[in-house]
Amino acid sequence: MIPETGRRRLRDLLVETGALTSDWMAAYEEVPRELFLPDVMWPDDGGIAVSKLDDPERWRRWADADVPIATQWDDGRHTGTAPGEVASSSSSAPGLVFWMFTELSVFDGAKVLEVGTGTGWCAALLSARLGEANVVSVEVDEAVAETAREALASAGRYPRLVVGDGLLGWPEGAPYDGVLVTAGVRQVPRAWIEQTRPGGVLVMPWGTHYTGQSAIARLVVADDGTASGCFSRATRFMRIRAQRLDWPAYEDYLPPGDDWPAGTRRSTAGLPVEEVMDESGYAAFDFVTGLLVPECVRTFARGPDGIQTMWLFGLGDRSWAAVYFDEGDPAASRVYQGGPRGLWDEVEAAHRWWAERGRPGHEEFGLTVTADGRQRVWLREPSSPVPLSPASRP
Ligand SMILES: C[S@@+](CC[C@H](N)C(=O)[O-])C[C@H]1O[C@@H](n2cnc3c(N)ncnc32)[C@H](O)[C@@H]1O
Repeated sequence: MIPETGRRRLRDLLVETGALTSDWMAAYEEVPRELFLPDVMWPDDGGIAVSKLDDPERWRRWADADVPIATQWDDGRHTGTAPGEVASSSSSAPGLVFWMFTELSVFDGAKVLEVGTGTGWCAALLSARLGEANVVSVEVDEAVAETAREALASAGRYPRLVVGDGLLGWPEGAPYDGVLVTAGVRQVPRAWIEQTRPGGVLVMPWGTHYTGQSAIARLVVADDGTASGCFSRATRFMRIRAQRLDWPAYEDYLPPGDDWPAGTRRSTAGLPVEEVMDESGYAAFDFVTGLLVPECVRTFARGPDGIQTMWLFGLGDRSWAAVYFDEGDPAASRVYQGGPRGLWDEVEAAHRWWAERGRPGHEEFGLTVTADGRQRVWLREPSSPVPLSPASRP
């Protein structure tokens, strides 16, 4: 039985939301998350550190909350209690962890490869459910892996931990029945598919560079070496190290100074700000825009004058767009575009495509990875591929 009220409350919440199913209950009860959390941690991947030493009650409340908790910043280069720039390791939100476990469809004796050991909590839960001989977990960061190893030992769990690049999988343990990736993926490596038996399942947060959003993909490996399946819920995950976005520098797109460069195309926006900006970060249209307007990254900023501005930067070339939204009079929103692509025009076209199809949500899309490693996203059926924007078609 679980002794602490907080853990019991979290368990009840996870059961109520459908994340924690009966086959995972024993593992949840046997493996307390708090054993895998550091003394100083950043709940909700946010800016405020919580210290076990200074405020043990608060620390425990967060440990028992259904939120992600950052445990490392900037690949370990950053120290101290202030947050760093990029959270680079964390304990994922428990609800999401169990959601992904369910998507993995494990069975007794199934062999699982986890990519992204992080704190080690998932590896411990998988070990409790499947037996530690059936669990391999790969972590790219040596210090993170070492801390996870100690935490796992304190919980009496000894799955195979590998320090290395999880994009390569771990062929020595193949074939796997399931691959669970707990870092955001932009390009699925063939290794994961090749190391999974036909009928086996890959579960991962997958997305584009457009925003930090991913959706959970569940791909089933076929005999012909392809892997295919649907997305489910939207999420936000720190990315696989080698697939992080190398953020473009503003100066590479626009020269310094207040004036727009020669050749800037000016127009007004055909969409109001609320159609393209959702502060939750989980909007289906953001996911869709990332598919239809590839090789593009978006940011928002509110200027000192209070004007909401959206910036788009092309990753394959130096195309850019800025949209100054007029929230009182959407038709008066000003658009400035430069470079070979009309990035805002592409966003508007993506919106028309999405609206014409009834504004489908994440779960209506699917992903196929072909035997030669290409990724195709489709709507409702693998035979209905999501079209690339004309500007980015090869
Ligand atoms: C969200 S955390 C994983 C959470 C973890 N499953 C847990 O239970 O705490 C993501 C982890 O993926 C790791 N990572 C990033 N890129 C990786 C790669 N190429 N191979 C293996 N691990 C990687 C990060 O260092 C980080 O620790």
